[in-house]
Amino acid sequence: MTQDQWTAVDRYITDQLVPSDAALDAALASSAANGLPAINVAPNQGKLLEVLARSIGAKRILEVGTLGGYSTIWLARALAPGGKLITLEYERKHAEVARVNIERAGLTDLVEIRLGKAIDSLPRIASEGGGAFDLVFIDADKPGNADYFAWALKLTRVGGLIIVDNVVRNGDVLDPAGNANAQGARRLFEAMAKEPRVSATAVQTVGSKGYDGFAIAVVIK
Ligand code: SAH
Ligand code: DHB
Ligand code: MG
Repeated sequence: MTQDQWTAVDRYITDQLVPSDAALDAALASSAANGLPAINVAPNQGKLLEVLARSIGAKRILEVGTLGGYSTIWLARALAPGGKLITLEYERKHAEVARVNIERAGLTDLVEIRLGKAIDSLPRIASEGGGAFDLVFIDADKPGNADYFAWALKLTRVGGLIIVDNVVRNGDVLDPAGNANAQGARRLFEAMAKEPRVSATAVQTVGSKGYDGFAIAVVIK
């Protein structure tokens, strides 16, 4: 199996099930034109986020790590009527590119972009009483994952989902002495493993974005 094959199969899946879309295409084009890294979720992964959000009728979604707003658009489109999404980003430029992309997608009224370090924004959201999210998508700096998971747990209703991107990193997760991203993934697994308030698993993924994985937890109490 090779990256070329994974990419070709992702293209097949996307051609079948993830129709191209002017707003999403423009979000990726403007992200590239503005020099943002192409580390957005793949189209079929974005659609997975949409499917999961719709499956629980999500009305309040929190995203940690906006980049150019590509995953944000997928999630915001899944919101039930009257729903809202808050997305956290600390790079001013990324937030500005995302703002334009979200506006072009017609989602400005549903999405609030909060500029700042996630670790500062999360307690603020909690102290504002902004909890009871139905879904939290964690996709920012990987060393922060265990801390973001702890906040997500405080902020998510019973029955809600916490989804974390990039938990496998080419298999680096197996290396206890690995790089900071691998250590971040391992701390997340340890936190999830010992947390009685969630039922959690993770799946490895291959595709156009390489070899990585998602963790997913449902809050059970
Ligand atoms: N969810 C996006 C990709 C996010 S990439 C998508 O799939 O389309 C990760 C983003 O997290 C980057 O934009 C980066 O600037 C941001 N980020 C990294 N560390 C952060 C932090 N500590 N607080 C807030 N945002 C952070
Ligand atoms: C990378 C990929 C991601 O999905 C992400 O959120 C951050 C970084 C990467 O491939 O470097
Ligand atoms: Mg990611």
